[in-house]
Amino acid sequence: MKEKDVLILAIESSCDETAAAVVRNGREVLSNVIASQIALHTQFGGVVPEIASRKHIEQINQVIAGALCEADVTLSDITAIGVTYGPGLVGALLVGVAEAKAIAYAAKKPLIGVHHIEGHVAANFITSYPGKLSSSGILTSVRPELEPPFVCLIVSGGHTHLVIVKDYGEFEIIGRTRDDAAGEAFDKVARAVGLGYPGGPKVDRAAREGDPHAIEFPRAKVEGAPYDFSFSGLKSAVLNYINRAKMTGETIDVPDLAASFQNAVVEALVSRAILAAGEYGYDKLAIAGGVASNSALRAAMAKACEENHFQFYYPEPVLCTDNAAMIGAAAYFEYQKGARHGWDLNAVPNLKLGER
Ligand code: KG4
Ligand code: ZN
Repeated sequence: MKEKDVLILAIESSCDETAAAVVRNGREVLSNVIASQIALHTQFGGVVPEIASRKHIEQINQVIAGALCEADVTLSDITAIGVTYGPGLVGALLVGVAEAKAIAYAAKKPLIGVHHIEGHVAANFITSYPGKLSSSGILTSVRPELEPPFVCLIVSGGHTHLVIVKDYGEFEIIGRTRDDAAGEAFDKVARAVGLGYPGGPKVDRAAREGDPHAIEFPRAKVEGAPYDFSFSGLKSAVLNYINRAKMTGETIDVPDLAASFQNAVVEALVSRAILAAGEYGYDKLAIAGGVASNSALRAAMAKACEENHFQFYYPEPVLCTDNAAMIGAAAYFEYQKGARHGWDLNAVPNLKLGER
């Protein structure tokens, strides 16, 4: 460990993952521990906020201890504590925020509250992750380190935004969804077709066996807003298709339906992101959020970026869905800018992007 190294202990508990990580200088993950609650919520078909909060309380201490241990550091080696303080489920966020404040106060470390979505974007700054190493120990990624400005497509369970990342932690929102978030559409379609929760990865998997052109679903455009998204029409079309098939007694080919739905979502996402990068004159395009782990989206974006001569950035799949390493990366860049929070830091369930 070099003396000038900045080590962030990061905590994330905004939804159904209790996570802690140690990140060096914003780009290198020393540990990334994620305790998922998926199995617990599956029986209810989605996240139950009260259960999520209780489970966070039960797990958070072990998760943090595990992150320090895996990184082979102690609290005294840590420079600052980063924590997600919004947006998310208020009770869930509170667990992480209270824990981060307690540790920072006791260990006399600076406290940095991080916007969850800023964290998702910052996953793209991580260049060295153990999972990225090839068997020969060589980094498989040959891309230069990502630095702003660039265009980022943010697609998670609660957000669908097209932004220009002007500087670290500085965003100009140029497009957003008018209704459902992309991940929400995946989850709703998965539930309707009987794939269950969590929907995104299940649709992704089912779609690999299907024909993306089997069913022609509508591609919605928002009049006068070329970078905005709308997924409710597509979701309704899928639900209508399922209901019609049930009424006429036809069997539904789930892989074909999954692949056709996914193809419609991916086309909408890729076309707008590519248009935005071209029109605004940026040659770097990144993706972030849980849906960024979708294999069809990654493949389509890689192809479109290559055709348009854009440099494409994408986090490792495990860094796309909720984790604390991304929060550590975002906290590092906030720390370098001088951002510090006081002991009055509170959970802000509807925190807007760019707000502090
Ligand atoms: O970023 P995230 O982990 O949590 C939020 O901040 O919302 O995103 C979760 C969302 C869920 O809607 C989930 O179904 C979706 O990301 N997701 C996927 C995939 N993996 C997760 N959607 C499509 N394909 C995937 N492979
Ligand atoms: Zn998230």
